Amino acid sequence: MQENYETEPDEGIIPIHGEEAFAAMRKAGRLAAELLDYITPYIVPGARTGDLDDMIDTFTRERGAISATLGYRGYTRASCMSINHVVCHGIPGDKKLEEGDIVNIDVTPKLDGWHGDASRMFCIGDRISLKAKRLVDITYECLMLGIEQVKPGATLGDVGYAIQRHAEAAGFSIVRDFCGHGTGKVFHCQPSVVHFGKPGQGVVLKKGMIFTIEPMVNAGKYDVKVLSDGWTAVTKDKSLSAQFEHTIGVTDTGCEIFTLSPKGLHRPPYNQT
Ligand code: MF3
Ligand code: CO
Ligand code: CO
Repeated sequence: MQENYETEPDEGIIPIHGEEAFAAMRKAGRLAAELLDYITPYIVPGARTGDLDDMIDTFTRERGAISATLGYRGYTRASCMSINHVVCHGIPGDKKLEEGDIVNIDVTPKLDGWHGDASRMFCIGDRISLKAKRLVDITYECLMLGIEQVKPGATLGDVGYAIQRHAEAAGFSIVRDFCGHGTGKVFHCQPSVVHFGKPGQGVVLKKGMIFTIEPMVNAGKYDVKVLSDGWTAVTKDKSLSAQFEHTIGVTDTGCEIFTLSPKGLHRPPYNQT
């Protein structure tokens, strides 16, 4: 199907997608969510992040998809795993998860050419600090409050404001250096979805826009630096950082979340039967 394009001032070209694109994104998004559901029981003390990433890679291929991060700008892994003060783009490897860690796992399967992008936080073991638990809870709430703002006529400033307000009311800060993004057949496209802002400002949302919301919330200051590996972003003050991500599409009355967990594993604790 031919895609239409909407030109926004300052924001370049924002794709407007039709029902066929939504159907394809439903499948890609569901696979992203199923990947996170699948890996959940294996996220335990002692698990090696490289091994978890291998499992994600295998599951993705078994489902006829490929991780979009493989070979993306030189990145060589199927997922990102960002532990404690790592903000995002942590590279899976020899590191083992330890009791008390909090970790974000971010997956982006590309299925039939379409990208499903999602991440969740996981708490390792039972001895999570109260502050870490609260950071994870607030960050999840930030994502969902941002999503609640999405409908035709609302702006990305409305989304950013809702997220920023909730994080800062809790005494936390919103990372400035990374943002959500349009997605679809292209991994990252317009619009840029920053997680702070002012009501009524920024891009006006229209039915058919597809993008991620993925707030990164720091327990301390919002400053970030990227390590010498060129990927791993950490908080400058070494404070804890958390993130959740969904891919959504704007509908007539609000939005559809493409990456909702089929198993209901939305946020920790992921009590499974
Ligand atoms: N999934 C990440 C996002 O939310 C992008 C990861 S790119 C990588 O946009 F190369 F770091 F994997
Ligand atoms: Co993303
Ligand atoms: Co992602």
